[in-house]
Amino acid sequence: MNPTPRLKGQSALVTGANSGIGLEVAYALAMDGASVVVNYVTHPEAADDLVKRIENDGGKAMALKADVSNEAEVQAMFQQMCAAYGTIDILVNNAGIQKDSPLEQMSLADWQLVLNINLTGQFLCTREAVREFLRRGVVPERSCAAGKVICMSSVHEVIPWAGHANYAASKGGINMMMKSMAQELAPRKIRVNSIGPGAIQTPINREAWDTPEALNRLLTLIPYGRIGQPSDIGKAAAWLASDEADYVNGTTLFVDGGMLLYPGFSTNG
Ligand code: BGC
Repeated sequence: MNPTPRLKGQSALVTGANSGIGLEVAYALAMDGASVVVNYVTHPEAADDLVKRIENDGGKAMALKADVSNEAEVQAMFQQMCAAYGTIDILVNNAGIQKDSPLEQMSLADWQLVLNINLTGQFLCTREAVREFLRRGVVPERSCAAGKVICMSSVHEVIPWAGHANYAASKGGINMMMKSMAQELAPRKIRVNSIGPGAIQTPINREAWDTPEALNRLLTLIPYGRIGQPSDIGKAAAWLASDEADYVNGTTLFVDGGMLLYPGFSTNG
């Protein structure tokens, strides 16, 4: 537990928190004092393991199942969360998937699945969170803001990605949705921002790092010379959710080891 927790008394919901980036984001928020809902849709045992890890380390958490692309399930999850923790202060829209394929082979089902989870899911969860933020308003002892939303985006909100048109479209969509929501909600003291991770070592991109050859190829894209860890994103999320970031509105914080610096141009061009 952080000796001077920045999120004390606040409650946070992290979607897709039973693996990868979401898992370490949920852990980091809990270690900064937030009561955390660990959302999952499959593998309940992984969500339970995280809840136990948080509790063992002095934090507070509970697991809730909901498919973020299903309106009724999202609404039920928010009701359960508010019944247990009273309200929500922080939403991390993290749940996301890839269903990669060359464009000419991409099925409509795979296009829609990725857009539904990655983009519509963020809309549905943000709408419910914002309804509660507006109902409750600012509680100055907890935070300067009435609520904070963090959208998990990607370097691929900027970098085009062949073979991943559905995924890149979802991340580009998150960028403009996040900025529009931030513009709309800032006057009501709600902060909306994104984190744009680069290559983070998680199951979603296993084939990019699980052999030395693949990892070396990947590292040519990362000026800082290492693959990212989920905890790199956890630390960024805890800061962005805290009042230390109170003046940060409508921006994407890229956490990518310099992937966006066009490393291909370091010796050419
Ligand atoms: C993707 C990963 C990829 C990374 C960098 C992420 O958004 O989910 O598969 O390794 O971007 O390209």
